[in-house]
Amino acid sequence: MANKSNFTWGGRFHEGPADLMLRFSESASFDRRLAPFDIAGSKAHCSMLAKVGLITAKERKAIHAGLDSILADIAAGHFAWDRRLEDVHMNIEHALTSRVAAGAKLHTARSRNDQIATDMRLFFKDACAVLGARVQAAQRALLGVAVANRDVLLPGYTHLQRAQPVFAAHHLLAWIEMLDRDRARLAGVAEKANECPLGSGAIAGTTLPIDREYTARLLGFVDKRGRARVTQNSMDAVADRDIFIEFASACALFGVHFSRIAEDLIIWSSAEFRFVSLPDAFCTGSSLMPQKKNPDSCELLRGKSARLQGNLHTLLALVKGLPMTYNRDLQEDKPPVFDSFDQSVICADVLEGTVGGMSFNRERCAEAVSDPGLLATDLADLLVSRGVAFRKAHRAVGAIVALAERKGCAIPDLSSDEVNRVHPAFGGDWASVFNLGRAMEMRRGTGMPGPSQLSRQFARWTKTLG
Ligand code: ARG
Repeated sequence: MANKSNFTWGGRFHEGPADLMLRFSESASFDRRLAPFDIAGSKAHCSMLAKVGLITAKERKAIHAGLDSILADIAAGHFAWDRRLEDVHMNIEHALTSRVAAGAKLHTARSRNDQIATDMRLFFKDACAVLGARVQAAQRALLGVAVANRDVLLPGYTHLQRAQPVFAAHHLLAWIEMLDRDRARLAGVAEKANECPLGSGAIAGTTLPIDREYTARLLGFVDKRGRARVTQNSMDAVADRDIFIEFASACALFGVHFSRIAEDLIIWSSAEFRFVSLPDAFCTGSSLMPQKKNPDSCELLRGKSARLQGNLHTLLALVKGLPMTYNRDLQEDKPPVFDSFDQSVICADVLEGTVGGMSFNRERCAEAVSDPGLLATDLADLLVSRGVAFRKAHRAVGAIVALAERKGCAIPDLSSDEVNRVHPAFGGDWASVFNLGRAMEMRRGTGMPGPSQLSRQFARWTKTLG
């Protein structure tokens, strides 16, 4: 029947769609994953129809039982998906009507347009919670490594040139901050998704006496006080894809963050740096060069991040020129969203595994951070504390750096005479600046990398991440 004339809309057609058109236009192959949300939406809609008297309690019961049996079949892998029935909605409705006569009443006061909008809002609420928890797990792994290596110091870099010393833990905590903003963004998307579009119909609602708030409450579209949240404009409700874009954007930005983390790890694990070694379980070897250990998980994280940006761009381009309201183009909104979700979840897991298994090469880190040049700014600060204007202090220390360079020695190896000839405020104790313990201890303001701050941030994150 389906290929002659579709069972849901075939009434005014003389001929069924071409086989090519069926193959071209079906979405069941990818939107079937929405089945649990679709069925939850249908059950709530059905309960509402019974509540307002559009179907009987008996019919409601029969439809619920039918939908439950379909969900069980889908979960067990027994459900016969038929691409001639286009999408997840029609596959389920067709199966329902063949099992339960009252199934033909389910689509009362509903369109696939408000149905898919509802399915996707339920999907986003779930997806944001799932992905948020995986990002949190990666943060926890980072915190664990930070705490276990709390005494390891590293050069911090700007322009990929050695800048100033930081605790490795401070660097790891910077990543945790980035990931926390990703989690907050995901929570924001879930919050925006928390409005029920059902009742918007195809575009202009319905003439039937439905109770939108009742359906919304059944589906958990409620505010903190349990009051129903429903969309406020039927046209916007079926045309809007902002949340899709915001979700993809949150994933893309998460991707930018894990890509930067991955890049740091690739640099840190290179023979030139050797600050960390990455876990064998997340690296691969070379088929040609026996000595190689490649940071593949990090490189793939970097690569996947490009894909997440692509998905965001696909969605922006998809929606940009569409007239109000629903257009079939919008069926193409799902593959990029699902891909962004699936890839972000696996990337969060791989990030967790990679950072969780990495170890710091303490000797090598100590050697790198012992470069006295890293404390040149502290020396300028010393002059400032003695009343020298910062610009002048900067120049004086610059001259000392140049002097040491010329003499081919380290700054602390210069004599006090030489140094005081550049500026008398250096005094006799200038070399005491070249002490990492002092340098870190003095960085005690909020957000700075000193040990007292580190303890504070550890406590804060242990509390936040649980
Ligand atoms: N499979 C469709 C989609 O994802 C559902 C909505 C179809 N609506 C329609 N009027 N053809 O966009």
